[in-house]
Amino acid sequence: MMIKKICCLGAGYVGGPTCTVIALKCPDIQVVVVDKSETRIQQWNSAILPIYEPGLDEAVKKSRGRNLFFSTDVDSAIKEADLIFISVNTPTKTYGFGKGRAADLRYVEAAARRIAEVAVGKKIVVEKSTVPVKAAESINKILRANMRPNVSFQVLSNPEFLAEGSAVNDLLNPDRILIGGDQTSEGKEAIEKLCWVYKHWIPEKKIITMNTWSSELSKLAANAFLAQRISSINAISAVCEATGACVSEVAHAVGTDSRIGPKFLQASVGFGGSCFQKDVLNLVYLCECLNLPEVANYWYQVIEMNQFQRTRFVRRITEKLFNTVTDKKIAIFGFAFKKDTGDTRESAAIYVCKHLLEEGAHLSIYDPKVNAQQIIHDLTRPDITEEPEKVLQLLSFHQTPYSASEGAHAVVICTEWDEFLHLDYKKIYNSMLKPAFLFDGRKMLNVEELLAIGFQVETIGRKTTRNNVNRGVADCIL
Ligand code: NAD
Ligand code: UDX
Repeated sequence: MMIKKICCLGAGYVGGPTCTVIALKCPDIQVVVVDKSETRIQQWNSAILPIYEPGLDEAVKKSRGRNLFFSTDVDSAIKEADLIFISVNTPTKTYGFGKGRAADLRYVEAAARRIAEVAVGKKIVVEKSTVPVKAAESINKILRANMRPNVSFQVLSNPEFLAEGSAVNDLLNPDRILIGGDQTSEGKEAIEKLCWVYKHWIPEKKIITMNTWSSELSKLAANAFLAQRISSINAISAVCEATGACVSEVAHAVGTDSRIGPKFLQASVGFGGSCFQKDVLNLVYLCECLNLPEVANYWYQVIEMNQFQRTRFVRRITEKLFNTVTDKKIAIFGFAFKKDTGDTRESAAIYVCKHLLEEGAHLSIYDPKVNAQQIIHDLTRPDITEEPEKVLQLLSFHQTPYSASEGAHAVVICTEWDEFLHLDYKKIYNSMLKPAFLFDGRKMLNVEELLAIGFQVETIGRKTTRNNVNRGVADCIL
């Protein structure tokens, strides 16, 4: 049996782009992406997709209606498919056992139960969602306990490594494809079939196969290592700010060691996104359950350092603004958790804004891809504020960074959008109250140029504010 039809449960940031690329590269396969959310499916079928990713619009246009379909008819798609991806959300649990740590597997379980209920014939079920080790075993148990005659299942783990903002490119040119499965002949046969799908565009040497548990753990470990690198360089950035060392120079020196490498050493206001915190916590919980408290504590430090970095940045803003931001206007440049995405999940901007709002600052926010509705949703959540009405009064939303910063005491860069590199900072400076402060949470702007304009500049991992107004050079290079 060759794979002729694929179904994907979950039309989110992973399911949508992944299936779009599969459909693009495998014209011989029909791909149906289903979701329980009607709105999401309508958006996928419209001119404005539910998510922004460079290159995604063009890729969807090429395949949609040909061999790529978006539908809410979950049952028909399951019945017809040879291979079913489970690509549903696995957020951190907010209730019960493991609250705040463990992955909430209720959506994965619901998906597995739906498959068990309606599937006919031979199915390969692929766990694409990020899950704790042994989740595939639970899916297997649910499928087998509900098995009807003439139905058979093989469960594979095939974690996704795409990063938002570069999803299409990551899917077209991944570092590797990871597939885990049972080491039985049926398991190996299923692995081969999934390999066949990827081999349409990915060289065989990039496809790694292993046992299911290794595959599940590899995904958690990879995200934990990446997050750990950011927390490590952020920890060093605090030392830089206190000493006059420059974190970019330190990162360069450290990263040129070929054993360490240069990537993921950008100090920042802290990592965000739906994955790093959730997956590290997932690993921490796993270690706690395995009675490995030292290992759990080790990884938990990565999260604590990230929280420290965000808080430290806001404290610095408040201190530099003469220890009070109450009633001051502060322009927030960027709200997404990184550039080239409209996603705000766990964005550092949320926490920066939360602290500033608690101090009574007026925030004027500009982000090229995040709309006001999303920002209001994020900043009035019960875990962010107990006073949503007050927060609403302190917020304003802008179509340009220039109008956001007009009459402001400070500009705070939270997302490294490329367009922030090319703004007319002289114009911004002229329209602000003086002294005009600029806090660069992404370490992206040329400090000397800003100082020359007249800004008081604070950037991550560098000691920069002029103590002497006549001195045009940064303390960093003294
Ligand atoms: P998402 O929230 O964007 O999308 C999940 C979708 O699944 C939602 O639209 C939801 O309505 C749908 N859904 C939930 N239960 C369903 C069901 N039973 N049947 C049909 N649809 C259902 O989530 P995402 O960001 O795409 O993440 C999905 C998984 O992939 C998570 O486990 C995540 O950890 C992992 N992952 C995400 C990324 C990323 O960059 N976002 C990268 C790698 C891995
Ligand atoms: C991450 C992983 O990179 C990806 O492999 C996995 O599949 C999902 O989780 P994502 O969260 O989409 O992807 O984006 P990523 O580029 O990893 O950035 C995460 C956060 O770390 C962002 O807030 C980013 O700004 C921040 N970051 C990244 C840094 O602060 N410094 C860096 O050097 C790199």
